[in-house]
Amino acid sequence: MGPRGGTTAPLFAALLLAVASCGAVGVPPIRVTPAQVQAAAVGNAYEQARAALAARGNGGGIPVKAPAAAAAGTVRPSPPPPLKRPGTAAAAATTCTDALATAFCADKGQLGDRFYAAVAFSCTCAYRCVNGRGYAYICQDGLQFNNAIQACDWPYNMSWTDPWVSSATSSQLASLPSYVNIVCVAFMLPDASYSGGVTFEGTGLSFSSDAAVVKASIALLKKRNPATKVLISVGGATYPNWDELNATSVALFVKTFGFDGVDVDFEGTTTCTRAATGRMACTSDAPYTRAVQLLRKALPQPYLVTTAAWSIGAYGEGLWANSKPQGANTGMSLNMLRSAGSLLDYVLVMSYDAGDKTTTGYDPAEALQAYCHYVQPCSKVLMGVQVPPEAWGGAVITVPKAQALAAAVKAKGAGGLMLWALTKPGTPSAQQLAQAACNVLAMRNCTQPLLRAAAG
Ligand SMILES: *[C@@H]1O[C@H](CO)[C@@H](O)[C@H](O)[C@H]1NC(C)=O
Ligand SMILES: *[C@@H]1O[C@H](CO)[C@@H](O)[C@H](O)[C@H]1NC(C)=O
Ligand SMILES: *[C@@H]1O[C@H](CO)[C@@H](O)[C@H](O)[C@H]1NC(C)=O
Repeated sequence: MGPRGGTTAPLFAALLLAVASCGAVGVPPIRVTPAQVQAAAVGNAYEQARAALAARGNGGGIPVKAPAAAAAGTVRPSPPPPLKRPGTAAAAATTCTDALATAFCADKGQLGDRFYAAVAFSCTCAYRCVNGRGYAYICQDGLQFNNAIQACDWPYNMSWTDPWVSSATSSQLASLPSYVNIVCVAFMLPDASYSGGVTFEGTGLSFSSDAAVVKASIALLKKRNPATKVLISVGGATYPNWDELNATSVALFVKTFGFDGVDVDFEGTTTCTRAATGRMACTSDAPYTRAVQLLRKALPQPYLVTTAAWSIGAYGEGLWANSKPQGANTGMSLNMLRSAGSLLDYVLVMSYDAGDKTTTGYDPAEALQAYCHYVQPCSKVLMGVQVPPEAWGGAVITVPKAQALAAAVKAKGAGGLMLWALTKPGTPSAQQLAQAACNVLAMRNCTQPLLRAAAG
């Protein structure tokens, strides 16, 4: 990879989120919390949204409201709570109209009675299509419409979902450019109970589109871009139950949906301490190692097994014993890499949510050096950038910073860059960051759009 290889294509991985905007600003849960620098933490948008709802008397669940009254003179289908018809006292918006809904619904005649989040309104508006006729509804209390559950939902859950589509040909997943050559679909439960079939039942995934459309989209993407690998990300901050990892179920899901493998996103809690020997030891060492081993066993090569690794996970020993910032996750990758690193195809370093050189002392180029010391060859290491805002630490990636990291990756012979997350809105955009990486890594066709325009 990079300047030394010359023959292999550079890698660029990106996460396509199934769960967690539809236009709203959302952030993933906190990833690193070194005590000494907590004061520097920026507010977590999800926590803020939650607090705002709580302050308005909402205990923390999806509020249940009485169905809206029928508008004068018309018989309306009754909406699920907490949707309101535009024009009612609690839903004063006038822009989300039946006329827009009806235009949107024109081609959905065969699909029965169903709600669709209106992407143009950041999903605060939903269109209900009944036999081709459209009705507009508005979510209350700052919630957004979630197609997957057909109800208004916390903005956090909705923050990065891909839009609903009726067929693979119009899906964002199937239309990704070739420079995104590893696509991680997120997130699946480690303790999955999926037992076969074209369904998301038992997976924890809440894709907006139907399972058959997602499966066809994976196949179409791979047909269009034969070098692209599509992985299912297991775990993430929301699904930490690795003790009950069901590798059989995960492998069955991978095979049934035509994935190329699995990304182990182990984000369970951990505490790492330095032993008298100088070695780091973490409470997550055994379960993290076991997860990689079990998933590799269930998915032998040529299936891919990768891991999303913590920013400061390769710190704590040797040259990096005192690298900053230090926290409970310092060194969390080390023992897993020593025991099971050879089983991994790529290590996708979540090089964000850790502050920056001026606040916490975190330097992505230093994390790259550390990871390449423990992961050989270094071409297995990809460095992550996050579309702002970051969940913790207040660092804001810029295009020049992304270019500098890509240049460091290239100079080191590392594999490439990883982007969190494809569908996350922010400035700079996922598109700008991806194209910057594509250009610096000297990949092909960097002007291709990252995501096709969302319908609705
Ligand atoms: C949305 O997120 C909250 C907090 O994580 C969770 O309690 C809730 O169940 C989620 N809703 C759905 C529909 O997943
Ligand atoms: C794992 O998932 C399979 C379905 O693939 C199911 O039959 C099995 O009971 C699950 N195992 C456990 C321990 O939950
Ligand atoms: C780049 O785009 C051209 C023209 O669309 C296409 O023929 C070629 O296959 C693309 N290359 C890659 C690597 O996608």
